[in-house]
Amino acid sequence: MKEGMGKVAVGAAVIGAAAVVGVAALVVRQRMKTSGRWARAMGIVKEFEEKCGTPEGKLKQVADALTVEMHAGLASEGGSKLKMLISYVDSLPTGNEKGVFYALDLGGTNFRVLRVELGGREEGIIHQEFAEASIPPALMCGNSDALFDYIAEKLASFIDEEEQRFHQPAGRQRELGFTFSFPVMQTSINSGTLIRWTKGFSIDDAVGQDIVAELTEALRRKGVEMRVAALVNDTIGTLAGGRYTNNDVAVAVILGTGTNAAYVERAQAIPKWHGPLPQSGEMVINMEWGNFRSSHLPLTEYDHALDVESLNPGEQIFEKLTSGMYLGEILRRVLLKMAVEASFFGDVVPPKLEIPFVLRTPDMSAIHNDSSSDLRVVGSKLKDILEISNTSLKTRRVIVELCNIVATRGARLAAAGVLGVLKKMGRDSLTEGGEKTVIAMDGGLYEHYTEYRECLESTLNELIGEEAAATIVVEHSNDGSGIGAALLAASNSLYLDQ
Ligand code: GLC
Repeated sequence: MKEGMGKVAVGAAVIGAAAVVGVAALVVRQRMKTSGRWARAMGIVKEFEEKCGTPEGKLKQVADALTVEMHAGLASEGGSKLKMLISYVDSLPTGNEKGVFYALDLGGTNFRVLRVELGGREEGIIHQEFAEASIPPALMCGNSDALFDYIAEKLASFIDEEEQRFHQPAGRQRELGFTFSFPVMQTSINSGTLIRWTKGFSIDDAVGQDIVAELTEALRRKGVEMRVAALVNDTIGTLAGGRYTNNDVAVAVILGTGTNAAYVERAQAIPKWHGPLPQSGEMVINMEWGNFRSSHLPLTEYDHALDVESLNPGEQIFEKLTSGMYLGEILRRVLLKMAVEASFFGDVVPPKLEIPFVLRTPDMSAIHNDSSSDLRVVGSKLKDILEISNTSLKTRRVIVELCNIVATRGARLAAAGVLGVLKKMGRDSLTEGGEKTVIAMDGGLYEHYTEYRECLESTLNELIGEEAAATIVVEHSNDGSGIGAALLAASNSLYLDQ
């Protein structure tokens, strides 16, 4: 018996030891698997970071390439990827504008209706009021009438609700500045045809149509009495709005859903302009810089894939690297690759991560901006948006770093864009007169993504050098584009002599 029991006991001990060895082997193998995965994930991050590199020399090449394209775009229609569109704005607001004017602002995530009461030099902006609505996604890809009817309806109810004192005297129509933030071939200050859609809009029957005629028709359908006095891009509106408050504003840059710039050009430096030379000798140009592309741009496999799968493949490449519509999507694509190829989030690829555009730039900004010691915000964003829970601090840190890579590349390229424009204007180095150049900036990305904004501004200083940087001022022009459009409606009013 004794012996037998001993045998059993020995047997059990042997089995126990084997189990311990087995578990240990499993743990080791698991660890090796995990560390192998981690190494693979870090390899993906490292490669991405390298490909996104924007050393100063590269940025200067980008700026130079942009300057060259600006010349080409001004020389002839279709001479460059940069459309360099003539805005028909040859005089910017002076401050003398008077009266009640309206503006419609369409072209980003939100749509706005606005009324401004201008009191001339003495009183400035006496009163302004706006209503805001988001554009229902279905309207972005439907038909032209549906979109313009929606806009006209919002304007109709805005006017219905307004106080008696804003009503126009008999025989006088209300006048409106229409900020339409897409590439438009203007034929006058208040007419122009849509060249193509950008930023996720895709309404085929509007391309090639006169945008003012489309709006005017819709206003008639909705019974709104209104004259469209000016059709402007948001960059033009921002430039006009900026100039109203600061005489040194000569450039406007939008960094929002999309990106673009406008600046004041010498009319004589526009070979493709065949009209009479404006009295001011100047013409504001809408560059449509979102469509800039150059071999110097640091494009990665993720950018190529994003472009190919976008609504406008091959177009708006600069925009796809720098603007709000795309930054979060680039991040998502990198994370997806890490999930698929390195099981970065565990054995299963989180299904939500496979949905295009699910990770929006405002969320990326919140992740990037998380300064809590345990990266709490990162954790909750991952959970809320991607349904990924229980991430380690280490994992969260990597995600923040990825945000940094994507945002830094975008912001530094945007700064290179600004340098390119300043070069074209001869304002990139200290001028003899030492005059100031103010750049009016607007857009949600610039306004709300702190790391992006700070990186853009410091890069600009780095590129321009200390001496010239003292004469270049970047100014946030808060909703300058709406007010700018109203101001341009005022200076192009039918009733200027009243
Ligand atoms: C897109 C549009 C452009 C606009 C910019 C910023 O690039 O094509 O017209 O100015 O977005 O909104």
